[in-house]
Amino acid sequence: MFVYLLLLTVIVTVEAQRVPGQQKTDSCLCKINSSIWTFPAVEFMEVTRQVQICEDNLNEFEEKLRNTNAELPMMEATLQNISARLKAFGYLHTSGLYSALQLQQLNRELEEIHQSVNETHKQNPNKETHNLLSELNKAKNDVQRMYKDDFFNLETMKKRLRDLNNRAQSCKTIPNDFRSTCHQRIMTRISSPSMTKLNSISKSYISGAWGRDALLSSKEHYWEHCLVSGHKHGNTIRMYTSREDFMANRNYKDEQIAPSYSDKNAVQGSGTILYDNTVFYQCYGTAEICSFNITTKTTKRMKLDGAGIDNKFPFCYYSCRDWTDIDLEADPDAVWVIYATEENHGNIVVSRLDPLELNITHTWKTHLFKRSVTSTFMVCGVLYATRFVNTFQEEVFYAFDTTTGQEISSLSLPFEKVSSGIANLNYNPVDGKLYLYNDAYLLSYDTFF
Ligand SMILES: *[C@@H]1O[C@H](CO)[C@@H](O)[C@H](O)[C@H]1NC(C)=O
Ligand SMILES: *[C@@H]1O[C@H](CO)[C@@H](O)[C@H](O)[C@H]1NC(C)=O
Ligand SMILES: *[C@@H]1O[C@H](CO)[C@@H](O)[C@H](O)[C@H]1NC(C)=O
Ligand SMILES: *[C@@H]1O[C@H](CO)[C@@H](O)[C@H](O)[C@H]1NC(C)=O
Ligand SMILES: *[C@@H]1O[C@H](CO)[C@@H](O)[C@H](O)[C@H]1NC(C)=O
Repeated sequence: MFVYLLLLTVIVTVEAQRVPGQQKTDSCLCKINSSIWTFPAVEFMEVTRQVQICEDNLNEFEEKLRNTNAELPMMEATLQNISARLKAFGYLHTSGLYSALQLQQLNRELEEIHQSVNETHKQNPNKETHNLLSELNKAKNDVQRMYKDDFFNLETMKKRLRDLNNRAQSCKTIPNDFRSTCHQRIMTRISSPSMTKLNSISKSYISGAWGRDALLSSKEHYWEHCLVSGHKHGNTIRMYTSREDFMANRNYKDEQIAPSYSDKNAVQGSGTILYDNTVFYQCYGTAEICSFNITTKTTKRMKLDGAGIDNKFPFCYYSCRDWTDIDLEADPDAVWVIYATEENHGNIVVSRLDPLELNITHTWKTHLFKRSVTSTFMVCGVLYATRFVNTFQEEVFYAFDTTTGQEISSLSLPFEKVSSGIANLNYNPVDGKLYLYNDAYLLSYDTFF
């Protein structure tokens, strides 16, 4: 068998990292330390360079292959395969993200943050709003200077704006009981699966979501939602009124969310959640969030500005999971949406929605590259992210606390699964359990704080 090694030299800020490529079955795997993906804006160029290096190495490798006349069809296929996968990062080359002097954009963003802090300060003046206002004035002066001197460090400025924005979001009024009901902050452990079962329809439905109504005062309603049509779309949700019925696949009711799975109100992707007997999901083929109230059978829509869809920013970590661009989660009094935007360089953006009005009340921007993650969930305003360890194990490795803007990237909370692929993971605030759609299997776990 033909064995080869693809060597990549990756510079992570100061230290050099050697990344050996390894031939596995018919593909070449380069395992790159994931910490390079959690890059702040200043390291963006570095990542672009690394992708470039990876491509250069591939080209060199291709050249060598030609020279040694070792044009085995399998190797050719491997090369094509890797090149196809690198294409996913093509948007990193869109240097337009930075180059077209975006001072005006910066200014607009600054004005928006300023307005929001002004309002918050008027309602509830405190030390933090006071500090923020003075920092915003400093930032405005700096932008003015950039205009005047034509000298700027856009990356640094964008990072500063992101931090200011996150602080402004965190000090905006959040319902009073929000922090008090959630004083326990970071999760410490996840149990072994307390339940494992195949979905009630078919083993071939490897994508979807399941869980329990997340509203605190709701009845014990379990739900199951499987995607059809290339694991991409869906239009019904299966409802059970007790855990026993759910376990036995009986006495369920299939509620119709849309007349067909290609209707404009049909579901796209596996990010669905149920809150207050209402299904929240990505609407068919658009960067919009839909809510379908099962009680009243009414649908509402809301645009999610800048959100990448159609596999632009799916969950990837090990292998990309199609149609996971937009992930919805629920807390005791809010619905959250987790996505990524070009503006935030493909890093995760978290927005808090008012579930009744279906509008966004807060938006935070993290440094976590969405493609470096396999799934996310929210507990009490804290975003958690998981990564693939192996076929039977997954690990929570990252948390972002929206009430403080603090990021923790040193978590290690492992949990078991029965198959490698994760379509959906959500936390239920009523019973404190995690609900996992693991290829066609449904699992739940207890959590500890
Ligand atoms: C990844 O890189 C970081 C920083 O360079 C280092 O601290 C960490 O140990 C590395 N992890 C692995 C698994 O190599
Ligand atoms: C590359 O190979 C892997 C493993 O065989 C396969 O799952 C994947 O679909 C291939 N990708 C492309 C773009 O051909
Ligand atoms: C914020 O308030 C200050 C002082 O009241 C005012 O000068 C400024 O124009 C306001 N900025 C915005 C964006 O509303
Ligand atoms: C769904 O409709 C019911 C009945 O009108 C209402 O009580 C509930 O608040 C609605 N929920 C959402 C999230 O729209
Ligand atoms: C949400 O929508 C309601 C009703 O349309 C409006 O009163 C409220 O100000 C909106 N909130 C935000 C944050 O846009």
